[in-house]
Amino acid sequence: MHDASSIIAAKRDGRELSGAEIDWVVEAFTRGVVADEQMSALAMAIYFRGMTREEVSRWTTAMISSGRRLDFTHLGRPTVDKHSTGGVGDKITLPLAPLVAACGAAVPQLSGRGLGHTGGTLDKLESIPGWRADLDTSEMAEILSDPAVGAVVCAAGSDLAPADRRLYALRDVTGTVESIPLIASSIMSKKIAEGTGALVLDVKVGSGAFMKKLDDARELAQTMVDLGNDAGVRTMALLTAMDAPLGHTAGNALEVRESLEVLAGGGPSDVVELTLELAREMLKAAGIDGVDPADKLRDGSAMDRWRRMIAAQGGDPDAPLPTARHTEVLLSESDGVVCGLDAMAVGLAAWRLGAGRARQGEPVQAGAGIELHAKPGETVSVGTPLVTLHTDTPERFAAAKAALSEAWTVVADAPSVATPLVIERIEDPSR
Ligand code: URA
Repeated sequence: MHDASSIIAAKRDGRELSGAEIDWVVEAFTRGVVADEQMSALAMAIYFRGMTREEVSRWTTAMISSGRRLDFTHLGRPTVDKHSTGGVGDKITLPLAPLVAACGAAVPQLSGRGLGHTGGTLDKLESIPGWRADLDTSEMAEILSDPAVGAVVCAAGSDLAPADRRLYALRDVTGTVESIPLIASSIMSKKIAEGTGALVLDVKVGSGAFMKKLDDARELAQTMVDLGNDAGVRTMALLTAMDAPLGHTAGNALEVRESLEVLAGGGPSDVVELTLELAREMLKAAGIDGVDPADKLRDGSAMDRWRRMIAAQGGDPDAPLPTARHTEVLLSESDGVVCGLDAMAVGLAAWRLGAGRARQGEPVQAGAGIELHAKPGETVSVGTPLVTLHTDTPERFAAAKAALSEAWTVVADAPSVATPLVIERIEDPSR
């Protein structure tokens, strides 16, 4: 017979929890027998004491068992998904999902909404008139099994890892989000429950990421790779830089527009590079050889997939994207080369302009955000446009400008060392 207070005290005192204790506490929390305040206290104890590999694996399995686990093995094509831990201007899912589907895989991509300074894929796609994020499992399966579409980006249904949904809401308001075992089990319980056969993780490191330090990002990536492979999902991770924003836009419709440029064979070089890197890893993880995703961007087949994927979820791929009612351009005050552009500052500014939300459930402005005219390595002079701010509510300009006041570092002589976008790969060594 277990009870919540002994389990909380055990973790508080640094004892490893048994499998039976973990199963009980997660199951009892899902049934409402363990109260929110008890689960919050346990999350805080885990935050300070951590978890062993066995504990985190059992915790993840218990979170998965709190709901249903989808199964797409009947599709006759390998399934593969990508998860990013979130960054500024990270619109990669938008071109990537249709691109990988165009290469022959089925892509069941459950995504989230933005909270705070990082944007959410669903908020971005919802700027397309008519597009729906909420699909039930049968709609999801129907789109995935259509060989002409094969990619779906939607919200996780309430029956997938419901214990995580409740625990995440508690962590969000109790200072317990930044715990590697809790983040890893939260992400991986949803990804394993969604029924993908393979998974590529894009773990962001840098000022605009959850993980500011390389060692922490590496530990998070390794924990998630182990959890995925232990659960039978072929999983690998790339650690990628998130010191500067990806691409030239941060905001909802603005990022859809930039993604369309990539699907049309153009777009910013960093977005194209990361999209192709992740696509190649996803194809490898799915066991698909002999297809070069760059060809599918060039020959228009990824764009065709995008159009069908958007239409399958009620969106009109030909409808004009919303634009903000007000814009303001900020100019450089010095001559030189941009050597730093702080992703966190840009994310905060886009959020303050109305692209993000401060509380769950708030609406976002489809047209709001930031357009960057100068990225690291580019030369600017006094008066060169650095950024255009977009919003429907011009009273927000002042707060956005305050966030951006120290975002750029402009120096007379640029240092020649460029940071690579992909920093490291993490795989299961036994595969
Ligand atoms: N995303 C999740 O789904 N869970 C976390 O804990 C952090 C990010």
